[in-house]
Parts: sequence; structure tokens; C-alpha cells
Amino acid sequence: MTTTDDRLGAAPEPTGPVSRIDYSERIPNNVDLAGDRKLQRALERWQPKFIDWWKSLGPQVPTKEVYLRTAVAIDRDGWAVYDFVPMEEYRWGIFLAETDPDREITFGQHKGEKAWTEVPGEYRAELQRLIVVQGDTEPASVEQQRQLGATAPSLYDMRNLFQINVEEGRHLWAMVYLLQAFFGREGREEAEELLRRNSGDYDNPRILGAFNEDTTDWLNFFMFTYFTDRDGKYQLGTLKESGFDPLARTCEFMLKEEAHHMFVGTTGIQRVVDRTAELMKEHGTDDILQHGGIPFAIIQKYLNQQFSVSMDLFGSELSSNAAAYYTAGLKGRWQERRRKDDHQLQDQTREMTKVENGELVTETVPLLNALNLDLRDEYVADCENGIRRWNQALEDAGLPHRLTLPHEGFNRQVGVYADSKVSPDGEVLTQEQWDAKVHEWLPSEQDMADVRSLMRPVYEPGEFAGWIAPPAQGINKLGVEFDYVRFWQEDN
Ligand SMILES: [Fe+2]
Ligand SMILES: [Fe+2]
Repeated sequence: MTTTDDRLGAAPEPTGPVSRIDYSERIPNNVDLAGDRKLQRALERWQPKFIDWWKSLGPQVPTKEVYLRTAVAIDRDGWAVYDFVPMEEYRWGIFLAETDPDREITFGQHKGEKAWTEVPGEYRAELQRLIVVQGDTEPASVEQQRQLGATAPSLYDMRNLFQINVEEGRHLWAMVYLLQAFFGREGREEAEELLRRNSGDYDNPRILGAFNEDTTDWLNFFMFTYFTDRDGKYQLGTLKESGFDPLARTCEFMLKEEAHHMFVGTTGIQRVVDRTAELMKEHGTDDILQHGGIPFAIIQKYLNQQFSVSMDLFGSELSSNAAAYYTAGLKGRWQERRRKDDHQLQDQTREMTKVENGELVTETVPLLNALNLDLRDEYVADCENGIRRWNQALEDAGLPHRLTLPHEGFNRQVGVYADSKVSPDGEVLTQEQWDAKVHEWLPSEQDMADVRSLMRPVYEPGEFAGWIAPPAQGINKLGVEFDYVRFWQEDN
């Protein structure tokens, strides 16, 4: 069954049979943790370290309670409840999508075999690595966003930020569960490392580049949730196909939560564009910073930046690792089951664009080696949907401005474009040409300072900062004016 389109809003409806989560346990779960004392003890030892991490590197604005969604069941109707929760008391837990005892591996050399419920010895190292890399991104984004609450444009937005933060924390739990349950002592050590590495830490950074950049302001945050959380969606989508069943089921449930994160990005950028369009019309100028809005050109630059950084997260276009993961049945393609081919891809090819002698050329490459590119193409097509939607608002406002996705080779640090300079419209440039124009394409220090100058907190229920339009509706059918975040001062 197709679920609600995440690009349009609400969390997708859960599918499959009901599986209640046990909230009487210290660690809520639907994996019968109580039946495995050793694992339960290991996770209970990790829990206080997680809480310490949350307190020191999680959201830094002190709040009394936040109106948050908590998963309660992995079932068809109503998988979550909404309520006020003090954030450090959020019930992080271990939730896997329902098991399908007949599940088969659908791709690679083990195609048609029963999915694995234990880690196959021959793939242990590869699986552990995949889980660690995915797990590392989850707490990283919380660290990157920890100061943002201090400049929230409304309580509604602050609540959405914190919802994303607690769920990314839960995704860390999801990966730590897999490491501790299936990878023994090494898995337990990796679980510790996931809290020891920190975003932007000079000596001990997060594994992937995009997760060491600061989330500088709310425009950046909305771009991050649109473009970088969407990379996460596609990575989880490939792991959801994994022959290792516990990983597949874990990722399936994470995807349900992820949908809201992208909703925040899509609608956040939409609201910024709406407000910018309104101010441009009202004042008859593009120069709306003086009127408290974010200039259109700056929105495009932020978009260029976050899109290109997120493209790097897919890795090199040609990757023998990706081929090996696929053949082994560890990591599939996006919507593997819907692909109409042999799901082994041994002799198939595809086209790949790269730069040669200062020009873009296309060459034919083995599909199996180009699976990162295959996934990235799916991602780019998805990203285009938001662009269309935001441009519709500009068109409706009667303005000529249009947002565009930059060329795939623009501003890349990873893969076939890493050594080239490519303009947003796909022109290969010399270093000098690039240097002369880069300030038109990527946010300058001044642009970021300009955006920062608008980032003043608005904590009155129902009020919004002047650079962003209010949302069309509130959370869980509540009004936009609801007090989604409560502070301690309110009691005094
Ligand atoms: Fe996540
Ligand atoms: Fe996310």
C-alpha cells in the first residue's frame, strides 16, 4: 500500500499487523528485551551515557515541556501519541517494523533465500560498518542543531526542531540496538564510539563530511531537513531491502519517523519563499533584507550549498563497495522490489556523466558499480518535487524568480566531479572562472551574517518571525497559535 506522500505532509500510515510497544519497561521496546537479560543489561548500561550525551550536546534551550510525538505501536492505525513531555524524559526506545517470517532476500547472489535473522559470519564486518556509518549520522544532526532553539522563529518551529532531535536520538538507539544485539563485544564498543565522536570535533569528528558542518541558522536547518534528511531517507530505503532482517525492519520503522523531518524542510522552505515573495511584491524590490525578509538570491545560494553537500553523501559514482554490498544482499536499491530486472545486475550497464578535458562527457559503466549513482538519481528526482512546489508559489505571486537545483557536478568534493569546477548550470570552469563567480552561487560570510541578523527568537504562541510565513496548520490538528513549547518561567 502506498502511504501518504512525505513531500506533502503527514507521517505515512503504518502498515502490517499490530505490535504494541511495552512502555512499562525502562527501555520501551517491541523486541521482547525482557526475554534477553544480557542484552537488556548492556543497553541499560548504555542508557545513562546516552542521557548524558543528550544533556550536554542535545538542545541547549532550557524548556519545561514540549508537545511531542512518541511512537506507541507499529500498527495500521495510530502509531503515535502526542503529549507534553519534558525532553530529557522522552521515552527513547527500540521499535522494529513487524517481522514477516516468510521474507526472502530479493537481490544479489542470495536472491530467493530466506532473509537472515542472524548476522552471516562472512558479512559481519561489512554489516557492522554499514550500521555504524548510518548510526553516526543520527546523533550528529542533533549536535549540529543544538543551538537553534535560541533563535526559533516560533514555538511551532521550535517544537518541530525538538521533535526531529528526539527522533534522531531514537534512530541512534535503533542502530545501537543492532550493534549490541548482533555484534557482540565489538558492537558494544562501536555503541560507545557513537557517543564519543562529535560533530565538528577536531580530534574525533563524525564520519561523514556534511555532518561536521554547523547548522548555522534556520534557513540552513530547513535546507538540511529538506536535502540532508532526504539523503537519509534514501540510504534507509536501501537498508530496508537488506537480507539481514533486523536491519531491514529497523530501517523500515525509522523511515516512518523520517517523513516528518522532510515535511519540516519542505514546508519550512515553502514558508520562507512565500514570505520573501510577499515582501518583494509589497516593496517592489528584490532587496528585502531592509524589510526583514531573506532575499531570494540568498535562498538560492543556501539551496545550492546544501544540495551539493548532500550529493556528496551518496559517495563515489563508481564504487566496488556498493557492488559488493549489493551482491552480498546487504544493501539493495531504492524500491528494489519494484525494479523490473533480474536483481543481480551482472551484465547490465548505465550512463554516467563526468568531466574530461574540460568538458562533460558521458560514458557507459557497469550498473553494479554505479549503484551509488543509481540511488543519487532517485534522490535528485525527489528533490525536484520541492523545487516545483516552491516555484508554483512564486508563479502564483506573479514573480519571475524561480529556484533551481544546481547541476550534479556543482561544488562537489566526492566522486568524479571532485577535481573539477562546474557552474550551477553545468558549465565546466577554470579555477579562475570559479573564483570570480563563486560568491554568486554559495553563501558568503556577508550573506550568512545577513540571515543571522534576522534570526531573533519569537516565543509568543501564535506569533512568527517576520522572515517566515505561518504554517497552513498546526501539529496534530491543533491550531497554529497553540503553545507547543512551555518554559519554566511560565510557572513563576
Ligand atoms: Fe534519522
Ligand atoms: Fe531525520
